[in-house]
Amino acid sequence: MTPRRAIVVVAAAAILALAGCKATPPSAFETWVVTAAKHHVFVGNRSQQNPFPATPEVIAEGKEAFSHYCVACHGLDGQNTGVPFVGHISPPIPSLASPDVQRYADGQLKWVIDNGIWPSGMPGSKGTLSDEEIWTIVAFLRHLPPAGSQGEPEMYPH
Ligand code: HEC
Repeated sequence: MTPRRAIVVVAAAAILALAGCKATPPSAFETWVVTAAKHHVFVGNRSQQNPFPATPEVIAEGKEAFSHYCVACHGLDGQNTGVPFVGHISPPIPSLASPDVQRYADGQLKWVIDNGIWPSGMPGSKGTLSDEEIWTIVAFLRHLPPAGSQGEPEMYPH
């Protein structure tokens, strides 16, 4: 089997595994399979480079856009700080600083933000955000501030 074929088989197994046990939380193995499938099969655009260099200005612009469109679910720091429902939705909202997210290529992060992750709660932003805003967000995601350093999103009472 070629590596690509093996990955497709893994993806199919993941879908079967998910279909078979909807009611229970995913096991570590299922989570691993789904993560591998997303990284290698579903999430495209691996080779596209960020056209914006990660200068302090670009990162600040990305932070600004992130603070309008993403904080409700990801927190100001991208690490879920102060998001009240973070442990109550399935799949859980990952820390954007986690190795699983950081392993995506820049082009794949752009793809995730453009298209969202179906069928989870992660929305697609294509049409709402410009390409430029999304690329600056990708630059910000590579330079996230320390967890908890930005306070909590204002929309939640605290
Ligand atoms: C309504 C809540 C919500 C909003 C708003 C939201 N996200 Fe998400 N996000 C999620 C959830 C839920 C996941 C987990 C998806 C999964 O693992 O299937 C996620 C996952 C991600 C991931 C990781 C994807 C992966 O495959 O691991 C990235 C990157 C991300 N979001 C970036 C963003 C950015 C940037 C914005 C703003 C433009 C944003 N999100 C807005 C809920 C949201």
